[in-house]
This record gives sequence, C-alpha cells and structure tokens, in this order.
Amino acid sequence: MNWNGKTALITGASVGIGECFARYLAKEQANLILVARRKEKMEQLAAELAQKHGIKVEVIAADLGKPDAAKQLFAETERRKLQVDLLINNAGFGIGGAFLDESLDRNLEMIQLNITTLVALTHLYLKPMVARKNGAIINVASTAAFQPVPFLGAYSASKAFVLSFSEALWEEYREHNVTVMALCPGTTSTEFFEVAKVKERTVAQTPEEVVENAFRGLRGKRSHIISGFMNYLMAQSNRLAPRQLATMIAGSLFRPKK
Ligand SMILES: NC(=O)c1ccc[n+]([C@@H]2O[C@H](COP(=O)([O-])OP(=O)(O)OC[C@H]3O[C@@H](n4cnc5c(N)ncnc54)[C@H](OP(=O)(O)O)[C@@H]3O)[C@@H](O)[C@H]2O)c1
Repeated sequence: MNWNGKTALITGASVGIGECFARYLAKEQANLILVARRKEKMEQLAAELAQKHGIKVEVIAADLGKPDAAKQLFAETERRKLQVDLLINNAGFGIGGAFLDESLDRNLEMIQLNITTLVALTHLYLKPMVARKNGAIINVASTAAFQPVPFLGAYSASKAFVLSFSEALWEEYREHNVTVMALCPGTTSTEFFEVAKVKERTVAQTPEEVVENAFRGLRGKRSHIISGFMNYLMAQSNRLAPRQLATMIAGSLFRPKK
C-alpha cells in the first residue's frame, strides 16, 4: 500500500505505539491527524514531522473516553474538510488488579474508550471508505484478546471484543476494497503499564517493532496480526489448553504480588 499523499487519523497519538504510527507514516509521506488529550505533546510531534517530511499534520485534542467524543471528532474532521484514508483506533488503557479494587466509573471509562468510541469511529469513518471503495482501519487489540486474563479482566475482555469485531468487519468489507485489521501486540515498552498499574513483563517489544508488524499485516490484507513470533506461539498455545487451565495460568502471571 502506498501512503504517499493519503491521510491517516491516529487516536492515542501523543506517546507510545500511536506516536510510532505517526513517525512511520510520516516517513511514508502520509498526511496525519493526531488525536489524544495531551495537545502540547502532539503539537511538538506535528511540528517535527511536518518540518522533517514536508507533510500536513493536524492536531485535534479530545478525550475519547467521553460519550459523544467520536461524533464530535468526526464532525471536526468534516469541518476541516479532511478525508481519512487510514483510521488507526489505537487509544486505549488497561486496569490492573482485582476487578473490585478499581471504581466502577474507571471501568466504564475504559469500556467507553476501548470499545464504544472504537465502534463509533469505525462506523463513522468506514462508511465513506466503503463509498469510495478504498481505505483501511487498524484496530489495536492485544494478545490479551485470546484468553481471559484475571487481574486485567475487563481490559482483556475489551480487547477480545476488538479482535472479534474487527475480524467480522474484515470479512464484511474486504469485497469493498477496505481492510479492517486487528493488531495484537504483546507486552510493548510504553506508558501502558504505568497507567494500568501493572508490572511490565520482562520480554517486551518496542513500539517500532509493533508498528512494522502492523503494516506487514495490512500489506497482506490480514484480518488480524499478532506482533512477534513468541507472542504468536503464546496465543496459539492457549487455543489447545483447556480454558480453565489457560485462565489459571494467566491469573498466576498477573496476580499482584503482596
Ligand atoms: N503496551 C502494551 O504492552 C500493549 C499491549 C497490547 C495492546 N496495547 C494497546 O496499544 C494501544 C496503545 O497503547 P500504548 O501501549 O501505546 O500505551 P500508552 O503509551 O499509555 O499510550 C496510550 C495512548 O492513548 C491515549 N489515550 C488514553 N486515554 C485517552 C482518552 N481518554 N482520550 C484520548 N486518548 C487517550 C494517550 O494519550 P493522552 O494521554 O495524551 O490522551 C496515549 O497517546 C492501547 O489500545 C493498548 O491497549 C498495548
């Protein structure tokens, strides 16, 4: 796929995997729309990438954990007359620890961001892509989508939703020349663990590796891609193990240390 002159909208573009998506696409000469809450960080990134690569970069500060944020974002890109050729639904966060140890409101905010906003943005931006018979959507899921993860329970369930939803849409829209793909990273060195209050696993990929794998998947018009061979093996092994056993093993890995 040639991204030269195309426009990509990236949510969660201020740091981490989203920032890497922006850097990768800027090198490919794509124009960018960066969306997250931290406006200053995105403005710095936008200035750097526009200057270095001679591309157009728009910044839209938005809290996508709020109801109606997706509709407001779509209205804003319409107002700015921006056509989105690639949508990357990357913004997301996790909640570590036992379910009852975090407030209901924080759990609902996570579901709003990881699921509801993602579905809304997919609905809003997919429609014009299908009408043009051109476009792509990357929905960032996780290897946590492949089995229940105790002590990250609502988060892993949210990513299972993203994986299942994306794979279904892949089949519905591929005949319209639009690829909807779920990206499933394993542990990746970003702010994710600090936000989730979970200890980072020892073997982590870099966000650059994850983004490289995402575009390999997209070039192959895949329904999903698991980033990294070890992560692929882990996800496959879960399919062979009895579900209760897989859940107990995942729980032993994520149970907070006393
Ligand atoms: N790191 C991992 O090990 C890992 C593994 C599998 C999947 N993932 C997934 O990868 C995606 C990116 O995470 P990351 O690892 O890059 O984590 P990160 O470094 O914490 O980045 C998260 C991004 O999401 C944005 N964000 C968070 N809440 C938001 C909100 N309410 N509204 C708008 N933007 C919001 C953040 O920007 P602001 O704070 O500026 O709003 C930030 O840009 C997430 O969906 C995550 O679940 C991560």
